Amino acid sequence: MLEISALQRERAKYQPKIPKSLVAAVKLVEGEKTESVANQKEIAELFPNTYGMPLITFEQGEVWRDRPAINVGVILSGGQAPGGHNVISGIFDGIKKIHPDSRLFGFLGGPGGLIDHKYVELTAEIIDAYRNTGGFDIIGSGRTKLEDEAQFDKGLEIAKDLGLNALVVIGGDDSNTNACVLAEYYARIDAGVQVIGCPKTIDGDLKNEVIEASFGFDTATKVYSGLIGNIQRDANSAKKYWHFIKLMGRSASHIGLECALKTQPNIALISEEIAEKKQTLGDIVDYMAEIVADRAKNGDNFGVALIPEGLIEFIPEMKTLISELNDLLAEGSIEEKEFKHLRKSRRLAWVAEHITPESAEVFNSLPPGIATQLTLDRDPHGNVQVSLIETEKLLGEMVKTKLEKMKEKGKFTGKFGTQYHFFGYEGRCAAPSNFDADYCYSLGYTASVLISDGKTGYMASVRNLTAPAEEWIAGGVPITMMMNMERRHGNMKPVIQKALVELDGEPFKYFISKRGEWANEVCFIYPGPIQYFGPTEVCDPTTETLKLEQGK
Ligand code: FBP
Repeated sequence: MLEISALQRERAKYQPKIPKSLVAAVKLVEGEKTESVANQKEIAELFPNTYGMPLITFEQGEVWRDRPAINVGVILSGGQAPGGHNVISGIFDGIKKIHPDSRLFGFLGGPGGLIDHKYVELTAEIIDAYRNTGGFDIIGSGRTKLEDEAQFDKGLEIAKDLGLNALVVIGGDDSNTNACVLAEYYARIDAGVQVIGCPKTIDGDLKNEVIEASFGFDTATKVYSGLIGNIQRDANSAKKYWHFIKLMGRSASHIGLECALKTQPNIALISEEIAEKKQTLGDIVDYMAEIVADRAKNGDNFGVALIPEGLIEFIPEMKTLISELNDLLAEGSIEEKEFKHLRKSRRLAWVAEHITPESAEVFNSLPPGIATQLTLDRDPHGNVQVSLIETEKLLGEMVKTKLEKMKEKGKFTGKFGTQYHFFGYEGRCAAPSNFDADYCYSLGYTASVLISDGKTGYMASVRNLTAPAEEWIAGGVPITMMMNMERRHGNMKPVIQKALVELDGEPFKYFISKRGEWANEVCFIYPGPIQYFGPTEVCDPTTETLKLEQGK
């Protein structure tokens, strides 16, 4: 028998709050026909069966009668995000309410489970053990990309064997793009299998006019902000360290921005701003060193700096350097062989001699440990694994060198001691906050209604998220509506637009109006850990990002 914690036992009893429209029978109201965000002609041609469908909003309806049982397969795709289990329990409860004979199957280990026909039937007993828990371990997740027709056909074999009416793909922008391609393919060949997507990722970069947030972002940022607050309090108690904290988020800086809004640190770098201003690594180091020196003037030799995981690729000169290194050290190239035969002590100088003078200057300015890391850690395609670069240490070491120079000129008189942290996996599988527990359950339930109504190529959507859950608006959004054409691996492809931090958006504008004050004073906020029981103003509110975006 699986042992569970006391919190888990209590939390299992939590009944997620859902929009009024989902409580009883649901009526689907179709809105205007939709268009893709860009490249309408190309997307319409690529998706003749699923393009231009209307937006769908649910309203309270008449009692459902005579709805047939439905069989659904569910897939968890990509990185874990808190609340995935509640999406699945929402689907389960939804299809059972539609008809008690409905059945739910989970494909194991992500999209690969569909292709390899690995699945489990999700019974009430299994579902009950996972309600309101974090993680994706109920069926596991994976990063196999479902993108070619041979895979779709393999998937169809098992869908037919199990008598599935529909597949639900719970994933990020890429997985939902592929879900849409799959929906189109099954519609084209008249396979009789619908495909519905659900917006997942802690990174928060799957959002737009109609999808207000991806699930998991709320919980993950609450976990990180709780930890950041604890560190801020330590920094303010000991008054002897600068804490450089890297925060997960492959590309966009939504996590960093949300955590900054919640905790008010002394420094928070936003990659999108750095790219927009075409800042160099030197500019960033100067900016940080100035703040350290200014605080030192007040005797404050401590502080907290937040650094987004994806930063490196947003610094134009680093991007160029990395692409030159990828070319130079491409697997199997003559240069790569020569490099491998060099003595370790000679390698960095050799690399600098074999790239452009501009990139060599950047390369030579890096701390040797980081420069070496750039030449060594490569993925199976031979590319630098940017996510492994310890950006927090890179910046900490470069700021230290800069401060030493400032000290020689009498411009810095303080001390600079560092501590480094990386918060990522700490938050991805946390027990979902009330918001994510409610939001995810509602998304899953919504998916079941869309399926029962025969829809395909839609993403489940729940909006009006800063209002109490009862007032949320559930429905469906055609996935093609979120698409544009982008170059991927040399070819133009239809993809869901990734949402980066908008520099003219309210969350960023609020942040820049405050960051000067946060830099020089101690304005730290200590959010504490997520609360699951207690007053609604402590337990239920969602992110600062959503509140500012929605003018709340
Ligand atoms: P998804 O986009 O698939 O949700 O994953 C997001 C993420 O958590 C990123 O923040 C992070 O860079 C990445 O996954 C790490 O994934 P992995 O552990 O598979 O390398």
